[in-house]
Amino acid sequence: MTGNKTFTMIKPDAVDNGYIGPILEKITAAGFKIIAMKFTQLSRRDAQEFYAIHKERPFFGELVDFMTRGPIVAAILEKDNAVEDFRALIGATNPAEAAEGTIRKMYATDIAENAIHGSDSDDNAAIECAFHFSGREIFS
Ligand code: CMP
Repeated sequence: MTGNKTFTMIKPDAVDNGYIGPILEKITAAGFKIIAMKFTQLSRRDAQEFYAIHKERPFFGELVDFMTRGPIVAAILEKDNAVEDFRALIGATNPAEAAEGTIRKMYATDIAENAIHGSDSDDNAAIECAFHFSGREIFS
């Protein structure tokens, strides 16, 4: 059974480039309902914990620097088949490989500064939503 929630962050590159509005427009036009959202900035500890799965990768330090260098928009999104449909909407990790019309193809810079995050499984969506939002911040 697939879940109906996913977690996203509009990353510091896309915020700095003025793409919050166009990206939210694409998300809602694709049928996702925003049930929680905040404009915030990750601490180094937040970023290290959120991306702990990548801590042995050579790009981990660069990833933490990037994700903490400016504000992000974090949100919980609701739709049937949310995780899979959202990953289709954002496109491949590397924007050079992302399909035409996807968010990363339109707004990402490169594989590191790739504009947007989307949870990769229902289990991780639940963990990531809980990492960023408490129960009373979520409107359902
Ligand atoms: P995302 O897939 O949302 O989560 C892991 C992030 O690590 C990824 O987006 C990129 O921001 C970053 N990343 C992945 N691969 C590389 C890479 N080869 N070099 C630098 N950063 C990367």
